[in-house]
Amino acid sequence: MRGATVTVVLLLCLHRARCDDGGAAWNINRTDLGLAMNFWAELRELRDMVIEHKVELNHSTNKMEFLQRENAVLKDKLCSVENKMEELKRENADLKATIGASENKISVLETKIFSNEAAVKELQRENTDRELVAFSVGLTDVGQTGPFTTDTTLKFTKVFSNFGHAYNPVTGIFTAPVKGVYYFRFNAWDARLSNVLRLRLYHNSKIVTESYDVNDAHGYVSLSNAFVLKLEKGDVVYMVLRTNTTVWDDANNRTTFSGFLLFPLTSER
Ligand SMILES: *[C@@H]1O[C@H](CO)[C@@H](O)[C@H](O)[C@H]1NC(C)=O
Ligand SMILES: *[C@@H]1O[C@H](CO)[C@@H](O)[C@H](O)[C@H]1NC(C)=O
Ligand SMILES: *[C@@H]1O[C@H](CO)[C@@H](O)[C@H](O)[C@H]1NC(C)=O
Repeated sequence: MRGATVTVVLLLCLHRARCDDGGAAWNINRTDLGLAMNFWAELRELRDMVIEHKVELNHSTNKMEFLQRENAVLKDKLCSVENKMEELKRENADLKATIGASENKISVLETKIFSNEAAVKELQRENTDRELVAFSVGLTDVGQTGPFTTDTTLKFTKVFSNFGHAYNPVTGIFTAPVKGVYYFRFNAWDARLSNVLRLRLYHNSKIVTESYDVNDAHGYVSLSNAFVLKLEKGDVVYMVLRTNTTVWDDANNRTTFSGFLLFPLTSER
């Protein structure tokens, strides 16, 4: 555009200089006229070109402005995408932390489960190895036992149950197969008038109880007692009928002796 303006000015100057040179100022012959016409045609062409350029330029400017706007919109979009990405990154980090904590918890639980499983196995083993000890015996079906001139161990001959065979119905003695806590109870009955029913429960040579009743009127006498005892392996427990006293048993199973292992004890306890 600027180049075209400069060309027009130069052409005008040149033409004028030639006219001045010729002496006869502004005497225009046919050649001059032709030149001038050519010149104006060129000038018009130039003007048209300029207008065309201007239109093109305007168009380009519009296009550029449009592109700039679009660029700005894209920048905004990019910005929001970046923000979103940052947010997602943060969320991701949070999730990772949560997952990490959960994994830790799971591993703690796994450890607990393993130790529980070990404990269960240990209990199962203990249960399998456990001594099954329980007995219930009755004295006799013959009626009166005693009186004897000395204290006499009662031999309960009627065996209702005898798990582990810790009670010996021949000797009347219970022998602890393991160290543990045991439960014992007995019941005794007598029918003789003016007589004493007098029984002892022994743990080894130690008297646990001396239980008695006197039939000093018409009627019957009966005794019962129960104990939880800590026994070492091999300890013995038995019932003794005192000298000069009697006890009665028959098919009604009135005089009985029972016991069982409540729980075994480890050697430290
Ligand atoms: C017309 O002018 C040109 C240059 O200015 C010159 O060369 C030419 O001889 C002229 N012709 C006539 C017929 O005067
Ligand atoms: C047992 O009875 C007899 C005869 O009645 C008597 O001599 C003895 O002293 C009594 N023994 C006891 C320990 O009571
Ligand atoms: C006493 O025990 C025996 C042996 O178990 C049983 O057969 C009998 O029926 C019992 N007697 C009574 C009265 O329950």
